[in-house]
Amino acid sequence: MPLLAVLVSVDFFVGRALREDYIRAANEHLSNTALMHVRWNLLGVSFLILLLGVAVSLLYSRRFANRVARLQEFSRRVAGGDFRPLPQERGNDELSDLAHILNETAVRMEATIRSLTEERNRSAAILRSMAEGIAVVDARERVTFCNQAFSRIWNARPAGIEDKPAIEVIRQTHVVELIRQALSGEETLHGEISLGTAQPRNFSVTVAPIRSFNGVITGSEVQQKNETFGAVVVLHEITDLRRLEQVRKDFVANVSHELRTPLTAIQGFAETLLTGALEDQKNNRHFVEVIRNHAARLSRLTDDLLKLSRIEAGKLDMDFQPVDLEALIGAAVESARGAASQKQLSLAVADVPRNLPRILGDASLLREVMRNLLDNAIQYTPAGGSINVSAVGGKGLAVITVADTGIGIPQADQARIFERFYRVDAARSREVGGTGLGLAIAKHIVEAHGGEIWVESTVAEGSQFHFSLPVAA
Ligand SMILES: Nc1ncnc2c1ncn2[C@@H]1O[C@H](COP(=O)(O)OP(=O)(O)O)[C@@H](O)[C@H]1O
Ligand SMILES: [Mg+2]
Repeated sequence: MPLLAVLVSVDFFVGRALREDYIRAANEHLSNTALMHVRWNLLGVSFLILLLGVAVSLLYSRRFANRVARLQEFSRRVAGGDFRPLPQERGNDELSDLAHILNETAVRMEATIRSLTEERNRSAAILRSMAEGIAVVDARERVTFCNQAFSRIWNARPAGIEDKPAIEVIRQTHVVELIRQALSGEETLHGEISLGTAQPRNFSVTVAPIRSFNGVITGSEVQQKNETFGAVVVLHEITDLRRLEQVRKDFVANVSHELRTPLTAIQGFAETLLTGALEDQKNNRHFVEVIRNHAARLSRLTDDLLKLSRIEAGKLDMDFQPVDLEALIGAAVESARGAASQKQLSLAVADVPRNLPRILGDASLLREVMRNLLDNAIQYTPAGGSINVSAVGGKGLAVITVADTGIGIPQADQARIFERFYRVDAARSREVGGTGLGLAIAKHIVEAHGGEIWVESTVAEGSQFHFSLPVAA
């Protein structure tokens, strides 16, 4: 535009000068000198126009180059991740349109990148916080990603695992085999592994292929080309599940075994009686007594099983009331006195302070705990021994102790005697009428009160069973 204005004005002035020169030349009858003069004028003016044109176009192209350089610089900035907009240019030529479009593109790119980053951060946080071990393996069988849980399973840090060959990290041929199958195009695969020897941990393994869906257009059809370029490995710990399954299996086996012994005896003696022993005046009473004893044992067993299952299922109606521990201990000791004196054992209440703290509990269930502990002390203490019951209060707890001078419990068995059916000497326990469930029941009851039960014992010297109960607030 400015160039055009300059040219028009130059044309105007030159035209005027020429016109004046021609008129003068005509007047002077076109003398040679005059013609020369005109020529020189014309040349001078043309040179001036050229000079002006060059100056103007130089100025204009410099401005243009500057604006293009600014756009270039902006594009470079955006490519490098800096999305600050260009300062808006005035004017409405193509270059300012381009600047406007580039600005809009940058704004949109920034929004897209921000939402992608947020999405990625969210996924990473979810993966990190998951309890399942998760890893991604690429087509070259290298671990490209793993979460904390996964690295912990293999006793490493995520940084120590990533980019390593799967076979080096996952030292389980079964899992590596599943990864290879997934990479070779198989669908989601499942397996199970067990890690460690001292305390084995069980994991369920899921390996799923990661596929890319590349669309290929052939003629009028769009074909999906599936390519497997990696696999996701998920390890889910199922140790507790397997352990519970084992406990359940053991329990069923134990119960069946416990029931079979008295049932076989009852059946055997009943048949003996029916096949003639009924008339055997010398033995028939004895046979019937054996049957009665085994029946009593069966009834004890089913009673205990019922109690245990009610407590475990949380179906026991517990009636929490303030409990006078001193009275509770006194009553329990009195009801055990008969059995103790029959076995020539001394049974005494020692050290029960008058001001024992008050506790809240179910008195009948706590009596059951005392009965089980006193029964055991009587059963497992040879004649002539002594049993002492004591209690202490303090630190928000009341602790009751039943101590005996009996056979004691080997160190290795001490942690297990609170398990169902666990007995140091099963034959001896059966002989004295035990079911192997007494301590399991006691433990459940004490724990339902918020307390703990434990044992200290030395073989051939005696045992002390303690249980604590939280003091009422
Ligand atoms: N006071 C004790 N002295 C020695 N061993 C004991 C004593 N109390 C319990 N035990 C051991 O713990 C095992 C489990 O006890 P418990 O659960 O009461 O079952 P049981 O019916 O056999 O008495 C017993 O079989 C016995 O081996
Ligand atoms: Mg017992």
